[in-house]
Amino acid sequence: MADIFERLIKNYGPIGQHRERAHGYFAFPKLEGEIGSRMNFRGKEVIVWSLNNYLGLANHPEVRKMDADASKEFGLASPMGARMMSGNTNHHEQLEKELAEFEQKEDAILLNFGYQGIMSTIDALCGRHDIIVYDAESHACIIDGLRLHPGHRYVFKHNDLEDFEKQMERSTALIKKQKAGGILVITEGVFGMAGDQGKLKEIVALKSKYDFRLLVDDAHGFGTLGKTGAGAGEEQGCQDGIDLYFSTFAKSMASIGAFLAGPRTIIDYIRYNIRSQIFAKSLPMPIVFGNLKRLDMLRTMPELKEKLWSNAMKLQKGLKERGFDIGNTDSVVTPIYMKGGVEEATLMVMDLRENYGIFCSIVVYPVIPKGHIIYRLIPTAAHNDEDIERTLKAFSETKAKLDEGAYKAEVIPDMADAR
Ligand SMILES: Cc1ncc(COP(=O)(O)O)c(C=O)c1O
Repeated sequence: MADIFERLIKNYGPIGQHRERAHGYFAFPKLEGEIGSRMNFRGKEVIVWSLNNYLGLANHPEVRKMDADASKEFGLASPMGARMMSGNTNHHEQLEKELAEFEQKEDAILLNFGYQGIMSTIDALCGRHDIIVYDAESHACIIDGLRLHPGHRYVFKHNDLEDFEKQMERSTALIKKQKAGGILVITEGVFGMAGDQGKLKEIVALKSKYDFRLLVDDAHGFGTLGKTGAGAGEEQGCQDGIDLYFSTFAKSMASIGAFLAGPRTIIDYIRYNIRSQIFAKSLPMPIVFGNLKRLDMLRTMPELKEKLWSNAMKLQKGLKERGFDIGNTDSVVTPIYMKGGVEEATLMVMDLRENYGIFCSIVVYPVIPKGHIIYRLIPTAAHNDEDIERTLKAFSETKAKLDEGAYKAEVIPDMADAR
């Protein structure tokens, strides 16, 4: 019989295999100091582009005060137990009411985490005869939700409406044959890696041609898109056609937790049937109060979203003017596409961090095909013009070095923390 532990340590996985050289630097880095555009990394100040603190709320004095006051008053214990049993409060329900109103839905339910919440939502919604049709670039939490689904699922090519229709025809035919089940379509408001918005308006329009319900994960659109910040549905003018709207508090709200909004009947069904909430402790009070405060600021301080967009546009325009390929983002998420090997990418990241004081995330093989590098920059309302200018200059200089072959190396440099 194989020993499971022995098998695991023979192969630590695509990123884990590099851990002895990468831990604490390329993976699991420790950013220290107050959350903002400047933080400390290994004792040096860096300009940070890898935090989804879109509206700059993380360190806002009013937010910090509310977090601290609520923690002092309630501690982390309260309320004890799952919502259904003993962990419900008027404040949890108030937050749900305000989220529903903001998203122009009848009701909303709080979820302890976005990842686990959306997985469990998919599980609660679909039975074995139902079919799920989903975008190929869906976030891992959607993919893991699909793993819980006992029925069929069909994937459509990313944002490709022709392929979407093909999968809808296939699904509709199968439902007719089965004489049972319905179709749930899942896509995202903004795809977090490439920054392109999901084709929500077009998908909603196809409701007149196919029968389906639509669930949208708008983790990156909530607070950043739409006139009021209500997200990608509002931005694209199709919020009514989104049956279930999901977002996390972990990005624009710089907090933790998530929510799902939709028709009262269905949210109530989920409330009484979603396993990850029924069998788990309710969100602690400081988090609920902290989220009420953040939601209030998100709604009443449009200047935060305006500053975010002004920074994002300066960054994206500056990159385009310098000849960088930023793909087809139509959100604030700013990818930069380059060509190079994994080893080159790590040397470039080191140069950016050590010599230019720029900290951002990279994606390389095997997450994306060999020979490609994606930098992913997240602008926030907390960045300033100097941060942007220094970053543009740093990328111009390091990209020139990359093209000259200055970062060619055989192995990933050993930058790991002593462990
Ligand atoms: C699209 C998307 N959905 C869901 C999540 C998960 O949210 P949470 O961090 O609240 O678990 C994320 C977070 O990275 C995300 O980007």
